[in-house]
Amino acid sequence: MNKLSIRDLELSGRRVFIRVDFNVPLDNGKVAEDTRVRETIPTLRFAIERGARLVLASHLGRPKGKRDPKYTLKPVAARLSELIGMPVDFAADCVGADAESKSCALRDGGILLLENVRYHPEEEANDENFSRQLASLCDQLFVCDAFGSAHRAHASVVGITKFVKQAAAGLLMEKELEYLGKAVTNPERPFVAILGGAKVSDKIEVVQNLMRLADGMLIGGAMAYTFLKSQGLPVGKSLVENDKLELAGDLLSQTSARNFQFRLPVDHVIAQSPASADTRTVDVANTPADWMGLDIGPKTIAQFRQDISTARTIVWNGPMGMFERPAFAAGTLAIARAVAEATAKGATTIVGGGDSVAAVEEAGVADKISHISTGGGASLEFLAGRELPGVEALTKKI
Ligand code: 3PG
Repeated sequence: MNKLSIRDLELSGRRVFIRVDFNVPLDNGKVAEDTRVRETIPTLRFAIERGARLVLASHLGRPKGKRDPKYTLKPVAARLSELIGMPVDFAADCVGADAESKSCALRDGGILLLENVRYHPEEEANDENFSRQLASLCDQLFVCDAFGSAHRAHASVVGITKFVKQAAAGLLMEKELEYLGKAVTNPERPFVAILGGAKVSDKIEVVQNLMRLADGMLIGGAMAYTFLKSQGLPVGKSLVENDKLELAGDLLSQTSARNFQFRLPVDHVIAQSPASADTRTVDVANTPADWMGLDIGPKTIAQFRQDISTARTIVWNGPMGMFERPAFAAGTLAIARAVAEATAKGATTIVGGGDSVAAVEEAGVADKISHISTGGGASLEFLAGRELPGVEALTKKI
């Protein structure tokens, strides 16, 4: 990476503005899932050990530019304090007198977390004045560790970099770029991409880009049905994006032109509705008109497992079915286990996207994956071959 790293900064005694992605689920005033907070700890410790004064900023949810207590970062300050084992001060606004005086009161190694930057509409507008105000809370040093937000050209991610002397990547950001970067630039082959989830439209560019880069692609989840229907197969009431049928057909015809394994489900678990307890497993070709596909079936699992077991690089984003319902979770969990087994055999495995990450956790194999990405949308944009504005904005290494 040709960008400055936190390792290149003189941190001692200086206030450093660290943009993190603490966009975590809250439940009853508590952090319900803290992976994103835990993943920033190495960066925070690195800065603390070097005597920096840490001003942390993040968004949480989409409060649409208004103060909304539902999206306060206060519970995250409490969780961070528990995880890092030291006090974390909290400023009730991310700009203004309180944030200024609290940032000035920081001692070496001290931590201040600012309230949700998205309480201000200027954040998403990447407003200059707001960016300048955020920058005034640090001593010309900015670190971006928010890989999950790097696809957003917002003030605390991009705008602020204009008003500091050095803008560097944090350790989590570096790790994410290293793993995902290697997969898209120099993967060990065979490189297999596994894509799932509801919609083809969310992942078209990822499919297109990975079709260029990978040696094979396994498609599951509802998005498979748009591809299957484009091939004239019966899909019953399965979720299909009819306006994407032509595109899906075009993508499939491109894969047949070269030596690329494009796999779609051959069988699936079906029901008349997602809530129905009456399920059947049938070949895709035998899907009845008033039933819908909700998980991949055993033949598909066996085929996908075979492809996964011979891969040397695997990128997985999106569940294979309606994984949140136990009746339709088997396919996604089987893929999670297969990816973990491939890791044990030496493959580099990268899992991104909330549901697939939840699946590797539920399957108990999260620690058997080479890299679990903290970026949902950001990792997809990266895999689609787009530049991430939050990375572009960092200072070039000379
Ligand atoms: C995410 O959860 O993907 C990031 O935190 C970005 O959130 P956003 O989609 O609301 O910008």
